[in-house]
Amino acid sequence: MAEAPKRQTRLLPASPETIAAAAAELRAGELVAMPTETVYGLAGLATSDAAVAAIYAAKGRPSFNPLIAHFAAAEDALAEAEFDARAQALARRFWPGPLTIVTPAPCAKVSLLARAGLDTLASRVPAHPVARALIAAAGAPLVAPSANRSGRVSPTRAEHVAEDLGGRIGWILDAGPTRVGLESTIVACLGGRPELLRPGAIALEDLEDALGERLDRGGAAIAPGMLASHYAPNAPVRLDATEVREGEAALDFAGRLDGGAPRLDLSPRGDLAEAAANLFAYLRALDAAGPARIAVAPIPQRGLGRAINDRLSRAAAPRVTRRS
Ligand code: TXA
Ligand code: MG
Repeated sequence: MAEAPKRQTRLLPASPETIAAAAAELRAGELVAMPTETVYGLAGLATSDAAVAAIYAAKGRPSFNPLIAHFAAAEDALAEAEFDARAQALARRFWPGPLTIVTPAPCAKVSLLARAGLDTLASRVPAHPVARALIAAAGAPLVAPSANRSGRVSPTRAEHVAEDLGGRIGWILDAGPTRVGLESTIVACLGGRPELLRPGAIALEDLEDALGERLDRGGAAIAPGMLASHYAPNAPVRLDATEVREGEAALDFAGRLDGGAPRLDLSPRGDLAEAAANLFAYLRALDAAGPARIAVAPIPQRGLGRAINDRLSRAAAPRVTRRS
């Protein structure tokens, strides 16, 4: 994909004034990187094909990969797409928050380019006050993929956005590190049993508890963005390591590994929420040291551990589809 021309990027602390100014930029068709509770997003007006095209260009993202529409309030999302009883139950229970719900949306005003031509829409109402204020001030839903170059790990700090997209976008609103650190969970409600498309910030167990039924888990094939090799640092990644080898950096969990240079522990006390919040920042930090490989300790496959393991297995996948 062609390089976007170099431009000045302004990294500004989020405040009522900078939010209002950024909303004016959005209404004029510009892009703004905004904090959400999960990761930073690269936002543009969902109704504007030009803004959506600029998002794909800035990220170097394959344009068959559709975007999530972010709404300021649940009512706005419910008015835009067809929520069946299960989708409504999920929205009531988890919005605002890190859940994305894919529903039929035959006449949504969200750009078809953002939806990659699909007649469904992925919707989410973020919990972050800056994101909600920005969407409300923009006066329209915002589409926002994670604000990283395509194929790189998602940004959990404004500085990560500047590293990846500096010179390619006009604005970054800084509200410090994100609370959750992993992308939203994506569930499709298309009639029948809801399907898990992407494990994420809301644990599968909590979704099944809210619905009173099991989710279908085979859905990754219909989330077109789920390329096997994604979230990739430059160094190769070795999973389920029980020891650290020569030249390796170590990404530990609960103090299982000895050695490694550098070595970071996602959560010395073995807390999965803490590990999720640290995951992407620690991968970036270890990678920046230029190790031969990153050895990763085993992470329990429960709760947020499923989403952590999902991202780690993508980081470790063969790099055939890497784009940057
Ligand atoms: O936490 C998050 O979800 C972050 C923040 C910024 O909100 N956003 C995010 O967006 O992770 P992105 O673009 O990196 O991932 C969106 C995923 C992709 O895997 C895409 O394929 C899927 O959502 N998706 C979007 N629309 C879809 C649809 N109509 N049907 C199925 N999957 C869809
Ligand atoms: Mg992403």
